[in-house]
Amino acid sequence: MIQSFNKINKISGTLSLSGDKSISHRALLISSLANGKSSILNPSGSDDIKSTIQCLESLGIKIESSIDRVIVHGRGYKGYKAPSQSLNAGNSGTTARLLAGILSAQNFESVISGESSLSSRPMGRIIEPLTLMGSNINSTNGKLPLHIYPAANLKSINYELPIASAQVKSAILFAGLHTDNDTSVIEVRPTRNHTETLLNLNVIKEGGKIISFVSRKNYPEAKEYFIPGDISSAMFFIVLTLLTAKSELLIKNVVLNPTRTESLNLLKRMGGDIQVDVKDESNKDVFGDLLVRSSGLSNVKIDPEIIPLIIDEIPILAVAGIFAKGVFKIRDASELRVKETDRIKSLISNFTLLGLEVEEFTDGFKIFGEVKKTAKPFNSYCDHRIAMTFAILSSLLEDGGKVEGFESVSKSNPEFLQQLKSVSS
Ligand code: S3P
Repeated sequence: MIQSFNKINKISGTLSLSGDKSISHRALLISSLANGKSSILNPSGSDDIKSTIQCLESLGIKIESSIDRVIVHGRGYKGYKAPSQSLNAGNSGTTARLLAGILSAQNFESVISGESSLSSRPMGRIIEPLTLMGSNINSTNGKLPLHIYPAANLKSINYELPIASAQVKSAILFAGLHTDNDTSVIEVRPTRNHTETLLNLNVIKEGGKIISFVSRKNYPEAKEYFIPGDISSAMFFIVLTLLTAKSELLIKNVVLNPTRTESLNLLKRMGGDIQVDVKDESNKDVFGDLLVRSSGLSNVKIDPEIIPLIIDEIPILAVAGIFAKGVFKIRDASELRVKETDRIKSLISNFTLLGLEVEEFTDGFKIFGEVKKTAKPFNSYCDHRIAMTFAILSSLLEDGGKVEGFESVSKSNPEFLQQLKSVSS
């Protein structure tokens, strides 16, 4: 589907976004492991979350869903039932990788499969540590489908992540919930820490590294969760507001966990007028309101240390970068190549349509030059974040623009178009 966008003259009003996708996945998985009824308030309404729910239902977990809450009837330690067919993770890497950690500890056989884009993404990164833990997990070429056979009890490991990935870390932590002794995961660079916060794990800093510990004693209990709004979805509206004249937008109840706010900090360093009003600090997944106003931006140096913490926002940050003074440059971000698409290539091919000058690196890109007119639609390459990035960019262009394959936005935010309309004039 090709979606057209006219130039937006002004952004105003208030947005409340559905719950953060990363936190929603984890709240669902953790609730399924606990014994009894957990309520998840403001869950993400994304397709990825539907994939997690469907996989859990196939594993015998009863789930009742309505718009503003999901109720999960967890079945306790090793309470899953053997699935009658393969578990379809859809297009959700988080579903496939985190579930693989849990299924490694079960005493039945399971298969995790997915759609074509997910089936081309690397799974060797979880197969290696899970195998060290004693998981009987196999795949033919390090890709989906994953075949997981019953194994003896999992053993604890001490594992230093070779790549900065919250999904890999979480797959190990979920498997580690089934080890008698502490499993430790060591990170050289920080990544989002929602698994650790929701499971209340012991996390220490030592010699510049972050070490998280997990074992059977961290097995969860049923409870109620409130999922704050998704900051990665908010970022599209933040950048649009900053770059549209005479605009002001209030975004309510967004997750402000420090492992998720580096994109906000970066935009502030670029000159973005973003006021943060923290509402609730009662747990580590802090949340609050953001008041964003039109601002003139300038590009700044982006520290490699923060790349894993801004990885999902890099496409829309690049749009901020092309309207900012100076050159937008990203390095140390080769993980962009193994997201829903090779995002370095997807971004570059679309920016080139605008006549911008682009330099590609193996681990990043650089953009400079002037935005010129384009008659051609931008291509989403069926990647939700690329679709939303070029929807925002189109809304900033004098003649508007079009995005091909726009339906892919439902992977993270099916309400994107309505939300955009509700705040624009
Ligand atoms: C996620 C972690 C990140 C991110 C993805 C969601 C998570 O992936 O890109 O959208 O929920 O753990 P990696 O950990 O593989 O970088």
